[in-house]
Amino acid sequence: MSHVLAIDQGTTSSRAILFDAAMHPVHTAQTEFTQHFPKAGWVEHDPEEIWSTTLAMCRAALDKGGLSASDIAAIGITNQRETTVIWDRKTGKAIHNAIVWQDRRTADICAALKKDGHEAQVTALTGLLLDPYFSGTKVKWLLDTVPGARDRAKAGDLLFGTIDSFLIWRLTEGRVHATDATNAARTLLFDIRAGRWSEEMCAFLGVPTAMLPDVRDCDAAFGETTLLGGSIPILGVAGDQQAATIGQACFQPGMMKSTYGTGCFALLNTGDSPVCSDNRMLTTIAYQIGGQRAYALEGSIFIAGAVVQWLRDGLKIIERADQSGALARSADPAQDVVIVPAFTGLGAPYWDPDCRGAMFGLTRNTGAAEIAKAALESVAFQTRDLVEAMHADWAAEAETILRVDGGMSASDWTMQSLSDLLGAPVDRPVMQETTALGAAWLAGMRAGVYPDRDGFAATWALDRRFEPTLDAAPREARYARWKRAVAAAMSV
Ligand code: G3P
Repeated sequence: MSHVLAIDQGTTSSRAILFDAAMHPVHTAQTEFTQHFPKAGWVEHDPEEIWSTTLAMCRAALDKGGLSASDIAAIGITNQRETTVIWDRKTGKAIHNAIVWQDRRTADICAALKKDGHEAQVTALTGLLLDPYFSGTKVKWLLDTVPGARDRAKAGDLLFGTIDSFLIWRLTEGRVHATDATNAARTLLFDIRAGRWSEEMCAFLGVPTAMLPDVRDCDAAFGETTLLGGSIPILGVAGDQQAATIGQACFQPGMMKSTYGTGCFALLNTGDSPVCSDNRMLTTIAYQIGGQRAYALEGSIFIAGAVVQWLRDGLKIIERADQSGALARSADPAQDVVIVPAFTGLGAPYWDPDCRGAMFGLTRNTGAAEIAKAALESVAFQTRDLVEAMHADWAAEAETILRVDGGMSASDWTMQSLSDLLGAPVDRPVMQETTALGAAWLAGMRAGVYPDRDGFAATWALDRRFEPTLDAAPREARYARWKRAVAAAMSV
């Protein structure tokens, strides 16, 4: 029982990571899976492919380590959040492809509900906004669209779940229909103060409560699987951004992490009471461990690492993502190009699904280096938007230090520019697998093989702190220019 298996089912890949007794990731298996784009703005995943790749990666990680089920103390699951699956209770088959968090097909439903003045009440109950991002309107769309679905759901024949819930159902071969509080908090159906499904929201969106999973703590027992050659308990579950918050040991109010993947998600721990945002941030559950719930303010931006993919695959000005920092470093400092990377609209704090990208400040001398620099800086400016909004909502007693992780955090240039444009320190930990670590720690702690919360927090180790090197005047001038660029992009 020397290892813990973390499953990280993300938006573009399924991964399994084995952590040893010292909480080090020792064997990883990862595979990408198919993205389906049936119409403009629609994004789907095949639940069978999610399941088959996840199971295959678990088996591959065990094989790599030469380990068997008897070596695994527990499984922890972390997952892309909000993505919605409805399946048949008897057959386990999904009635439709999963509708992915990025999918915009319910924009009209959201706009109509907003126009009718419902958003304030929705936010008061769920902490979220009426945006297609969240699961609730996706469930409504499926029940309205798939023939017979609503009646079958009312009869208790269909079950709803986010990806964690679907994987738990499959891993336990239909014995457990459950989710954790962090995933439930992203559905638009969960009362985040009461900590239970909201009958009001379910009635409002026409979602029968019979189809909802049981909501448990992140470190609860979620059944066991025998599909990996022996019985292994599932003892930890958290949505991926919350798992990263846990993995970064952001357990004290005022601690903040920012994860740079395809998008960027920043969470600020606000302690045991939810903070309502006046600045279009989300109020969400950071974690619920041992019966104790902590809340967070969350800012979600849709394009972070994706802007580097654009430099590589769209503009073809770099061959590999890790070349972007060196190219940006060579930019002419006299030029001030600004890119607003609103390729799929803007997330927090603007929430403008119709805005599209824009570039400002071009001259005859603008080349690849200046564009690369502006692209990387756009991630820093967007992070600053989130930090500003969070601070306006929740005045911290001490200076906030941002803990960063995810692919882009490996770039020294990008992290230095982030610190410069924030005017605040940025801490990069030694351990970069924070999301998987969060899930592994939950499960390993519950299994009794990993330390308690304080012991775990003490293992967080700094790789490098980036301190601001830019004076306040140029920093504020550059940020004001960014705000003008966003306003201009939104007005076109
Ligand atoms: O809210 C969406 C988020 O959970 C997706 O994360 O890392 O799978 O892109 P990721």
